[in-house]
Amino acid sequence: MPIATPLTRLLGIEHPILLAPMDVVAGSRLVTAVSRAGGFGILGGGYGERAWLEQETAKLKELRAPFGIGLITWSLAKHPELLDIALAARPNAIMLSFGDPAPFSAKIKSAGARLICQVQDETMARQALDAGADILIAQGTEAGGHGAARTTVDLVPAIVDLAAGRVPVVAAGGIADGRGLAAMLMLGASGVLLGTRFYASEEADGADEAKRRICRAASGETVRGILFDLSRNNVWPAPFTGRCLINDHARRWIGREVELMQNVATVAIDYAAAKAAGNFDVAAVIAGESVGLIHDIPPAADIVARIATEAEQLLAGRHNSAGGVLPSPLMGEGGVVLTGYMGNRIDRRHG
Ligand SMILES: Cc1cc2nc3c(=O)[nH]c(=O)nc-3n(C[C@H](O)[C@H](O)[C@H](O)COP(=O)(O)O)c2cc1C
Repeated sequence: MPIATPLTRLLGIEHPILLAPMDVVAGSRLVTAVSRAGGFGILGGGYGERAWLEQETAKLKELRAPFGIGLITWSLAKHPELLDIALAARPNAIMLSFGDPAPFSAKIKSAGARLICQVQDETMARQALDAGADILIAQGTEAGGHGAARTTVDLVPAIVDLAAGRVPVVAAGGIADGRGLAAMLMLGASGVLLGTRFYASEEADGADEAKRRICRAASGETVRGILFDLSRNNVWPAPFTGRCLINDHARRWIGREVELMQNVATVAIDYAAAKAAGNFDVAAVIAGESVGLIHDIPPAADIVARIATEAEQLLAGRHNSAGGVLPSPLMGEGGVVLTGYMGNRIDRRHG
């Protein structure tokens, strides 16, 4: 029996599992696969490359399952017309990350879409709520890609308390399996948003070699910082830094960012050439701390099913995450009704 939460009810989805809007990696193929599997696919509009956005949103017009489109807020502010392209695809939600969503909120809502805001602390969460956010994504530092300093296990309950039931809160950063989903529901989240796990899926648009490197990487082999942004001449506003796999380029420049800045002209030329050649010893593989949990590149639908099933079993108290069978204090005669925090609810029968 699927896990029903305020999030699944609001978005009309089967499983409380969202695909993160990974710039270019989360294209229409991956969005379609996740949404058709009962999750919620969010297109990675990223910085808003117009031709790509037009091409991918055109393909989503055929999708008969709920989906969203994600955009980087500070970049959208420079090209606000991209929001019209996104809304023309009639998404169920627009997700805005990294910046003040207020200037875009009215247009999103009057188009009938929900506003999802990704936040990294309480100040950003208040700003998002003031702008009328319908869903908050609490993103911890474990996340792949850009983010900030707070950990998921610290941030999620803090944002849940701040939201106080007004809107569902979704946990992001470091989650890649059913244990992560179950744990986040226990912290009061209504669902999870996953990037790195879905990067290593058949339908993701990333390079095969990048996916293989995610599978090979051990836990602890990522780094958050500014060295890759400096190397590609794409400086982000504070407090945002990027998390990527540690490769030769990272090993060379970690702790030497000032020197990197002083040599940025030559570094950037070499970096661009390596990126064009698909040389991931230099070019970044954007990925989060959950890489240690990822060992295969399955269809995205399998990822959704595995995570949902594992979390359902854990929450029904049949196993702990090390595989031990637990007697569940929550199991009553003929089945269990687990009524969690903030209205999360799982109905189960024995079996
Ligand atoms: C390859 C990649 C690209 C990303 N691009 C974006 C983006 O364009 N916009 C955005 O809001 N977040 C982006 N993120 C961050 C995700 O929205 C999300 O917070 C993160 O992936 C969650 O952590 P996880 O990777 O541990 O699952 C990206 C993440 C990855 C891994």
